[in-house]
Amino acid sequence: MLTFMSEFSIAVIAGDGVGQEVIPEALRVLDQVAPRADAAFRYLHFDWGAEYYLRQGRMMPADALDLLRPVDAILLGAVGHPDIPDHITLNGLLLPIRRGFDQYANVRPAVLYPGVASPLAGREGGSIDMVVVRENTEGEYAQVGGFLYHHQPDEVAIQTAVFTRRGIERVVRHAFEIAQRHGGRRKVTSITKSNAQGFGMVLWDRTFAKVAAEFRDIETESLLVDAAAMNFVRRPESFDVVVASNLFGDILSDLSAIITGSIGLAASANLDPSRRYPSMFEPVHGSAPDIAGRGIVNPLAAILSASMMLDHLGLEGAGRSVERAVAAVLAEGKVRTPDLGGTSSTREVTDAVLAGLN
Ligand code: NAD
Ligand code: IPM
Ligand code: MN
Repeated sequence: MLTFMSEFSIAVIAGDGVGQEVIPEALRVLDQVAPRADAAFRYLHFDWGAEYYLRQGRMMPADALDLLRPVDAILLGAVGHPDIPDHITLNGLLLPIRRGFDQYANVRPAVLYPGVASPLAGREGGSIDMVVVRENTEGEYAQVGGFLYHHQPDEVAIQTAVFTRRGIERVVRHAFEIAQRHGGRRKVTSITKSNAQGFGMVLWDRTFAKVAAEFRDIETESLLVDAAAMNFVRRPESFDVVVASNLFGDILSDLSAIITGSIGLAASANLDPSRRYPSMFEPVHGSAPDIAGRGIVNPLAAILSASMMLDHLGLEGAGRSVERAVAAVLAEGKVRTPDLGGTSSTREVTDAVLAGLN
């Protein structure tokens, strides 16, 4: 019998801290599912990050985006080092890739898997199943501004949020398209602060209403971000797809992660839905210097991010099988890292996922 093998080139940037520990685990899982999906992954490893910065004076080479552009997808661990200011590391590596490759939709699912305890009282597995869709190229992260009287006593800093009709419209539309596919409550909640921020967020609300009119079969809701934070805790089961600006989506996706058990389970996809550029898959968490190097970081956020990458590459069957194997390990409850109340190592958790895939 003839089979047709698809080959994919994957840029791998493990990055800093626990990024170096979780990415090898995600690659073990990818290597295990590849043959059954008739796929082969060719990894291009890039040693960019804080160590690179300490040697070269920059987080990645000047032609980094040119090196990444031809790949089918990017898998990233984490960026951030206790000895280097975060605005240097993040503006030197992670954020330029998101922006440079127009990865405007940052998709962050939050599922309370059976067997995982939520810090919220009385929440059963399956009761929380939401997706935070975060605008990922502009808004509060536009990096427009500057210093006046730099480092003088009367210093002034200006940091301007930039909201464009195009930028809002495309991410809101992506959120509605997810709501149509997601199989959940078929609802999109838009989150702003238009009572206080009367320009950008007002444009957001208006644009949301305009796009919503194209999706009459999807229920809509608009919340102010303060009330939304409260409602993530009070009635998390009422959310399906949530769409928010760059900063609000950042904050709310740590909240959606913890109410579903741990940031160690939170996966994300930085998507260019137009597929002009490669998309990037990474755990929501950072380099976690407080636990790095001890072999106890939860690898599941990185593994679930790899599963999102499989979906994006058209290998949905393989993506689903990885998610099912992760869910089974969580449901069984025997093998888990300390963030989920267990005593297992990073490697043991991956071993359990690999065993479940067999
Ligand atoms: P963090 O996500 O690294 O850690 C927050 C807390 O969660 C820590 O207590 C950590 O031990 C725990 N944690 C995180 N991931 C875990 C996992 N997989 N398993 C178990 N526990 C886990 O956030 P932070 O401490 O605010 O930031 C640390 C550094 O990472 C900073 O330099 C920050 O700028 C950077 N950061 C990078 C990214 C990214 O690369 N995408 C995301 C967030 C933060
Ligand atoms: C995330 C992170 C980044 C962000 C930081 C590290 C710049 O917190 O991916 O959630 O705010 O986008
Ligand atoms: Mn964040």
